[in-house]
Amino acid sequence: GAAGARDSRGAGDGVGARQDTSRAARKDEHVALARAQEIRRNDFDCVNPVHHALAACDVAAVDLSTRVGTFSWPVPFYINGMTGGTEATGKINRVLAIAAREVGVPMASGSASVALDDPSTASSFTVIREENPRGFVMGNIGVGRSGADARRVVELLEADALQLHLNAGQEIVMPEGEREFSGWRASVEEIVAQAGVPVIVKEVGFGISRETQRVLADLGVQVVDVGGVGGTDFARIENSRREAREYSYLDGFGQSAPLCLLEAEAESGLDLLASGGVRTPFDVVRALILGARAAGVARQFLELAIQGEAAAVAGLRSWRDQVRALLALLGVRTVSAARQCQVFITGELAERARLRGVD
Ligand code: FNR
Repeated sequence: GAAGARDSRGAGDGVGARQDTSRAARKDEHVALARAQEIRRNDFDCVNPVHHALAACDVAAVDLSTRVGTFSWPVPFYINGMTGGTEATGKINRVLAIAAREVGVPMASGSASVALDDPSTASSFTVIREENPRGFVMGNIGVGRSGADARRVVELLEADALQLHLNAGQEIVMPEGEREFSGWRASVEEIVAQAGVPVIVKEVGFGISRETQRVLADLGVQVVDVGGVGGTDFARIENSRREAREYSYLDGFGQSAPLCLLEAEAESGLDLLASGGVRTPFDVVRALILGARAAGVARQFLELAIQGEAAAVAGLRSWRDQVRALLALLGVRTVSAARQCQVFITGELAERARLRGVD
């Protein structure tokens, strides 16, 4: 999986402790390599609401709650799946879980299959539930693992939902990555059937096209995080872990979250979440305008977590207050009303959307 690398390989490959050590090292490496990436312009910059100077409503009148599948979340953004598996990443999860609890923000763990294969790492994941017993917690696992493993991750975290990540673009570049993808549809189906909680299928940064959304809906999925290009770039991260760095040309491969939202079909019946390059509360609002129920944030909240508990709590509070303020500026009283905002779609995003048949 995404940090999970070859989640399907596990400890059963006979390499034993050495494999587990390198796997743990990769979790720490992913944090360091993600943090080294500069935060850039992306397709969210091509999404700008039309301003109407007399349209604003009272900030206090804005209701930030949002419906996601069968769930109601207090805020329309969440801490996306990142980490766990080592001492350092357990600390990050602990700080994020405390902030999630204090501000009422849903939170996902990183890929937890390492905890199934090496139970000594489990506490770096279970801390998420321990620190936040009543909050909305999502587990995370990579496609290709068994339905039973998915259920074990859910039980380990006492999770309310399970994020199931699709990451072929990462696996291809990852030196130790997966090479067999043909079983993935069946795997999604098995995990949806056996997880015991709703499954949220997400990409790790290459996007989920309209066609794939349709396939997922047919497989019984109800919530999809389109996880697009434009934020943390896992092709780049894995490429920099290769000796020869052959895949540098893949930078920017895939579709952005704004594009995936624009091309989505209302009739699919899916509830869509958006992530990948959500840099600010304004990007959250832009995602809501394009029809997302909520926006997922990884890198920016990782930075808050590294600064410690107080900064993380204050940071999440500030995001919540800013999203509320921006919706008031647009005269939007509920999250679902955001999609009625008039919006300019410009630049390369507009061109790509047109090429995908969106007018
Ligand atoms: C991730 N991401 C990720 N996703 C996932 O489904 N399982 C995982 O284990 C991880 N691991 C992970 C580690 C680190 C350090 C980062 C920064 C990210 C991907 C994450 O959920 C998200 O899809 C991308 O990071 C894009 O969002 P941002 O970072 O641009 O907000």
